[in-house]
This record gives sequence, C-alpha cells and structure tokens, in this order.
Amino acid sequence: MNSKRMFGIVRKKSFLYLYVFVFVCIACIIGTTLRINTKKEYTFREKEYVSRCNLEVLSKFNNNTDFLVESEVCKIPRVNPFDKSIKEFLPDDPQISVCDNSNVFTYVDNNNLYINFTKSRNQVQYCSYEPIYYISNSFKLGKVSGHFNKSVRVTDEFIKVQCYDAFNKVIAKNFHTVFVKKNPNKKASDLRKHVVQMKNIPNMDNHRETRLNVLLIMIESTSRINSVRYLRKTRKYLLETLDATELLGYNKVALNTRPNTAALLTGDFIENSSCFKDSEGVDKCPFIWKEFSKLGYTTHYGQDTFYSVGKPGFKFQPTDYYDQPFHDAYQQGTKQFSNFCFNGKSSSEYVNERMFNLVSNLKDNPFFSLSMHIRMTHDSLTRAVTIDQLISKTLQRLHKNSLLNNTFLALFGDHGIRSGKVRPTFIGQLEERLPMMLMYVPPWFKTNIVAILRI
Ligand SMILES: *[C@@H]1O[C@H](CO)[C@@H](O)[C@H](O)[C@H]1NC(C)=O
Ligand SMILES: *[C@@H]1O[C@H](CO)[C@@H](O)[C@H](O)[C@H]1NC(C)=O
Ligand SMILES: *[C@@H]1O[C@H](CO)[C@@H](O)[C@H](O)[C@H]1NC(C)=O
Ligand SMILES: *[C@@H]1O[C@H](CO)[C@@H](O)[C@H](O)[C@H]1NC(C)=O
Ligand SMILES: *[C@@H]1O[C@H](CO)[C@@H](O)[C@H](O)[C@H]1NC(C)=O
Repeated sequence: MNSKRMFGIVRKKSFLYLYVFVFVCIACIIGTTLRINTKKEYTFREKEYVSRCNLEVLSKFNNNTDFLVESEVCKIPRVNPFDKSIKEFLPDDPQISVCDNSNVFTYVDNNNLYINFTKSRNQVQYCSYEPIYYISNSFKLGKVSGHFNKSVRVTDEFIKVQCYDAFNKVIAKNFHTVFVKKNPNKKASDLRKHVVQMKNIPNMDNHRETRLNVLLIMIESTSRINSVRYLRKTRKYLLETLDATELLGYNKVALNTRPNTAALLTGDFIENSSCFKDSEGVDKCPFIWKEFSKLGYTTHYGQDTFYSVGKPGFKFQPTDYYDQPFHDAYQQGTKQFSNFCFNGKSSSEYVNERMFNLVSNLKDNPFFSLSMHIRMTHDSLTRAVTIDQLISKTLQRLHKNSLLNNTFLALFGDHGIRSGKVRPTFIGQLEERLPMMLMYVPPWFKTNIVAILRI
C-alpha cells in the first residue's frame, strides 16, 4: 500500500517532471520564436535597426516624464536638444561655412551671362562657356562658345564658364544654371484646363488655379531635434511668421537616405517595389512626380550628389527640369560627401539658387519641385547653421515676392544623423529616427480646405 502510494507519488512526480520538462521546452520554443520575431521586427530593414534601448528607457519613464507625443502606441519623450549628456559635442553657436568665392567672376541675370567687373578688375580679359547636357546617368559638355568680354546671351540650361587672363591662361571656372522655359506636354495641359473648369468650389474668391504648387526641400540627416539646435532662423520664420505646421512624431521607416526617400516618393517600402532592383535604372518606379506630371504640373528634381552610392540611378531624365548633369559637372566625380565647396560656392548654394530661380519663373504654372541638400549635413550636425542662413533668407524672399501664395511647402529630413559622437547616446538614437518635417500651406487654402475635401 505504502509502496503503491510511494510509487504513485513517484509516478506523479515523474509526470510532474515530464510536465515541467515539456512546459520548459514549449516556453523555450515560444521564447525563441518571440525573440526571433522581435529581432526580425527590429532588424528587418538592416542591422542597425536593432534597438535594445527602448525597454531600458521605457522603464525610466515616469509620471513626470514630459512627452512630445503620448498615445497608447507611441511615446516620444521631449528631450533637451542640448542635454548635459551630449552638451560637450554641441557648440551653441557654430561658425557658418563659407566657400572662397574670389574666383567667381561671372553671374547670370535673365538669360544673360555677365562678367562682374567690380570683382574681376583687370584680371579677366575674356571668358567663354560650354553648355552642360544630360546623357544617361551622366553629363557631357557641348560646343565652346565664342569669347566674350562683357556679356553674352545664353539659352542653355546649365553652363560651365571659363575665364582667361591676358596670357590666355584659365583663371576661373564658374558654373551657372539658367532658366529655360519648357512646355509641359499637350495632353497634360488639356487635362489641366479640364480640371480647372470642373472646379466648383464654394467661397474660393476667384482663385484662377486652385491646385497648389508643391515645393519640397529635403535636408539630409536633419532631425527635428537638430533643427531646434541649428535651424533656428528657418524654424522661427516658418512657425511664427508663416504659421507652418510641424510633425512631432514623424518617423523614418528604414535605414538611410535611399529607402526613406523611396518611401516618401513612392508611398511604399523600397522592398515592395521591384523597380528599385532593376539594374538598368529606377525609371519605372512610381515616383510621385509622375502623378503630378499627368495632371499637367511641370516637374523638377535636383540634388547635390549622384542618385545613390553604388546603385543604379535614372537612365532617362525623370522630370522636366533635372539638375543631375549640372551637379555632376561642377563636382567632377567627387564622391566624398564631406566636400561641399566647388568653384567658389557650396553645393547647397547651387541647389538653393536653382530652386529659387525655378520657383520665381514657374510661378504661373502649377509645378512640383524637389530639392535635396545632401553634402552639407550628411556627416555634420553643426553645418545645418549654414543651410539655416541660406534657407531662411530664401523663404523670406519667396514670401515677400508672394511666391508662397499658391504653394504647399515642406521642409524635411530623411532621418537624423547616423554618425558622430551624439549618435550612440539615447538622444542620438531618438533623433536618428525622428526626422524634421515642417509644412506650410497658404492661409486661403487652410480656410478652404474643408470645402476642397468635400468635393
Ligand atoms: C502614475 O499615474 C497613474 C495614473 O495616473 C497611477 O495609477 C500611477 O500610480 C502613477 N505612478 C506613479 C509612480 O506615480
Ligand atoms: C560683383 O562683385 C562684387 C564684388 O565682389 C560683389 O559685391 C557683387 O555682389 C557682384 N555682383 C554680382 C551680381 O554677383
Ligand atoms: C572686347 O571685345 C571686343 C570685340 O570682340 C574687342 O574689340 C575689344 O578689344 C575687347 N576688349 C578687351 C578689353 O579685350
Ligand atoms: C510592403 O512590405 C511590407 C513588409 O516589408 C509589408 O508588411 C506590406 O504589406 C507591403 N505593402 C504592400 C502595399 O505590399
Ligand atoms: C495672395 O493671393 C491672394 C488671393 O489670390 C491675394 O488676395 C493676396 O493679395 C495675395 N497676397 C500677396 C502678398 O500677393
């Protein structure tokens, strides 16, 4: 009897061990699967997406934590951009980077190229220029113009100018963009008439064109947090004078520039679009400018680097105005991102001048324009101050000239900085994922937005 009970207990005990063993096994399997899944979730974009800080950090949040975004599924703490944990890496008032422009002897005004005699004094005897043309994924130079010693009329979109001294020696190379009118295709303009006639929008106080121009300006590696640090004038002007809207929880969706801008411009993850893997080029991808083009918009795309490192670019010109040949020509194959001064100007000055010039000339057409500043801020937090100077001035000029009156404007980053000393810190990890996004729509559009949405 006793032995039977004992046996029973032993049997029960062994069953218990078995149960425990099976349970542990199941738990292990579930645990491993969960771990793999979690890992998958964090790593499915690329290695760098692994984040272990989240849980540690979440446990530090308490009822006194101030959140910038606070919902059940998303909590983003409000951090001090100059927090003591990173303060030592962040000068309060960094120097603006200036390129040596002593050899910029020429300028363009209204399709005329002039020699600036105030500056060149007696150094320049004469200049000549070559047009820069687009060829698949690159550029070529056209026929050299005759010599000129005062000014010359230019009908080419992009030019390389060489100026000579009295000994016929080249003393300067200058590069300029010139506005050249291009007509959007006939079908598109018919469609535009159709759209405009169809409109029957209440309270629209006779707007000729109810569709907004779209002006997109991307600043590489710029987070919201870094814009608070170093884009102060631009933020102040946008938020206070223009009453722009800021997205506080705008997240990147992938690793670096290419997949994030791909998502922005096609509305889907880069992995979902096989077109990005096409070795011929990314021409077939559903970039948003194609939609605008169908609606009769004139389109523009410019960035101060090649499309993507080691990846195919565009085999065919993607937009009506396309600046790649120009940037390629003055950069002459400079692959180092950290170089940004070229022939007396910064790459951002070239991008910014082109953008302003196009916007002021295209104001009466609906246009879509995308400008990307890459070099200046790719690996520097502080160089944003140089862009701040440029862009805040340009926004003021655009606004004062009523060029934002019919325009949707977005100023944004693709992700935060991905290198340097701030990057590994908690704030660095936060800002790496939270790019800047500031948006402006004209006041008349704001008040009529409900009416427009109803149609
Ligand atoms: C935080 O607030 C919640 C509800 O408001 C409360 O239940 C909880 O006890 C608070 N926790 C602390 C640590 O004060
Ligand atoms: C011509 O050169 C002078 C002297 O450097 C400069 O101040 C001026 O802005 C230049 N003019 C143009 C139109 O670039
Ligand atoms: C400028 O060009 C004109 C015509 O080509 C020529 O007559 C003149 O001598 C030139 N002036 C200088 C200073 O080279
Ligand atoms: C795009 O890919 C993601 C995973 O990479 C997937 O979850 C999503 O459903 C896909 N979207 C579309 C529209 O196919
Ligand atoms: C902007 O456009 C509106 C409507 O067309 C017009 O009433 C207003 O005067 C314009 N503003 C400026 C500064 O031109």
